[in-house]
Amino acid sequence: MCGIVGYIGTKKAKPILINGLLRLEYRGYDSAGIATMEKDGIKIVKEKGRIANLDAKEEINSLEGTIGIGHTRWATHGKPSAVNSHPHYDNSKTFAVVHNGIIENYHELRKFLEDNGYHFLSDTDTEVIPNLIHYYYKKEHDFLKSVKLACDDLKGSFALEILCNDYPDNMIVVRQDSPLVIGKGLNEIYISSDIPAILSFTKDFYFLNDREYAVLSRKNIEFYDNNLNSIDKMVKSIEWNTASAEKDGYEDFMLKEIYEQPNSIRETIGSKLSENKISFTDFEISKDYLETINRIYIVACGTAKNAGLATKATFENFCKIPTEVDIASEFRYRDPLINEHTLCIYISQSGETADTIAALKLAKQKGAKTIAVANVIGSSITRESDYCVYTHAGPEIAVASTKAYTSQVVLLNILALYFAEVLERVPALEIDNIKKEIMDLPKKAEITLGNVAEIKNFANTVYKETDIFFLGRGIDSYVAEEASLKLKEISYIHSESYPAGELKHGPIALIENDVTVIGIITNPKLVEKTVSNIQEVITRGAKTLVITNQKINDEQFYKTIHIPEVNPCLSPILSIIPLQLLAYYISKEKGLDVDKPRNLAKSVTVE
Ligand code: F6R
Repeated sequence: MCGIVGYIGTKKAKPILINGLLRLEYRGYDSAGIATMEKDGIKIVKEKGRIANLDAKEEINSLEGTIGIGHTRWATHGKPSAVNSHPHYDNSKTFAVVHNGIIENYHELRKFLEDNGYHFLSDTDTEVIPNLIHYYYKKEHDFLKSVKLACDDLKGSFALEILCNDYPDNMIVVRQDSPLVIGKGLNEIYISSDIPAILSFTKDFYFLNDREYAVLSRKNIEFYDNNLNSIDKMVKSIEWNTASAEKDGYEDFMLKEIYEQPNSIRETIGSKLSENKISFTDFEISKDYLETINRIYIVACGTAKNAGLATKATFENFCKIPTEVDIASEFRYRDPLINEHTLCIYISQSGETADTIAALKLAKQKGAKTIAVANVIGSSITRESDYCVYTHAGPEIAVASTKAYTSQVVLLNILALYFAEVLERVPALEIDNIKKEIMDLPKKAEITLGNVAEIKNFANTVYKETDIFFLGRGIDSYVAEEASLKLKEISYIHSESYPAGELKHGPIALIENDVTVIGIITNPKLVEKTVSNIQEVITRGAKTLVITNQKINDEQFYKTIHIPEVNPCLSPILSIIPLQLLAYYISKEKGLDVDKPRNLAKSVTVE
């Protein structure tokens, strides 16, 4: 969960690398470093802490080179410190390497290298890489061949950028299960862990598959497969605009992304549904094939998993196929029952989550078809899956996911309705009615955002709390889960969510005077039941906030937020919005770094 950047061109590399690292800081921020190719060889400057600490170092100003690599770290092996930060030299200082990922067999490789006279300065897994390259270089005297031989020995995940003193006009990059994109400008090339970090420099990108190599020079990129045969790659133009990767006047990315939701929902709808017609040009799924499917698995992590939970009912109710939602890190190790009659859907904003990708590979091995629902174009999951559909949320920078979640829920609903149309197991009119409601979502999301002042006030009254509980029934319980996750990750307040009916089976013991309980009530069939559960906590002294689109006697609650009414299967798209704002304003009241919460990174590319 680190970020890497690289530059090769005619401009000074240092400011470009620092700028890129600042944009990647969400991926890790415990230490950082850069290396540039200077007239007298590679120079490395690195420091513990945020990028600002690195940029404040006196010696960084002497770097003049026009080729360079950079890294922002989220420690896995070895504590955060200057010596453990990247780039790492080999012992002879011929090579410098930055690495995102984990080398699983590094103990073995380190022992092998130590037996061959190498010594190590850091506690990292990465330091074996430049030394291993050097080990082969002494025999091969060829940069690319030595990198390839070293990579052949590596087990685990890696995105690597490598400089070599003997090739002062080149850089080599390679990846395996960790993200890396190559942006092409005019006589210059940018490398990064993600697209937004270099979007202000270029819109033309190349994507490497696992164990493909790129040898970069200022004007040219040569691509090679794992046998070092030369290969051609198509450049892909990315439509995202630069402003979408900037804060654009908002105090934080998270707030901006919350407010972008009417538009990201509109874009996601527009990509698949217009004039009441659903079209998935990305793939053709036949009625014959869908009729053979007897189980759907939706697999993902964190917020993406919550988006799966929020749409399980749409698949079941409209396609009449039993649908299970699973956590990717559990799914991959529990030998799930999968065969060619299973359809597996994987949701991932980043498209790089290691557990989700591993769970996808498992289903493929067992003969199931896989569909990826991803946001980042060209990300690993989009290349691993049989089919891929994109949410159109645009770049999501804040660590806490907001607009990606609502876009995922929108897209999964549309996907379920598309299958339902093909299967013809429910009346067409029922599907048409939901499609019409989907078209109204952007407007209703805008109306929902209008509650901001009330949310801010409520945040002000609860930000000092130590525990907050969320309740809901049916689909609302899944929104409760997402709201609870959002709150804990950015406010550090302990919070839990429960299906409201479960309350009296244990959790109600935690309710005492002034404990905050937040209820979500959007399903007309379940209003009375949930209200009754909320009354139970009020009786025990709880301070309650209710988010609802139903007509309820709200005098009984401490505070009620009214949101627009919508079909229950779409309600998570609206009911989560006030709760995203609540988490945001509580975090602000506490003076925390909303966009970069402690211990968390935007994409979790390690297990
Ligand atoms: C929470 C959050 C995480 C991610 C999870 C999966 O706000 O963002 O829980 O949802 O790490 O990430 P992706 O969707 O990139 O696979």
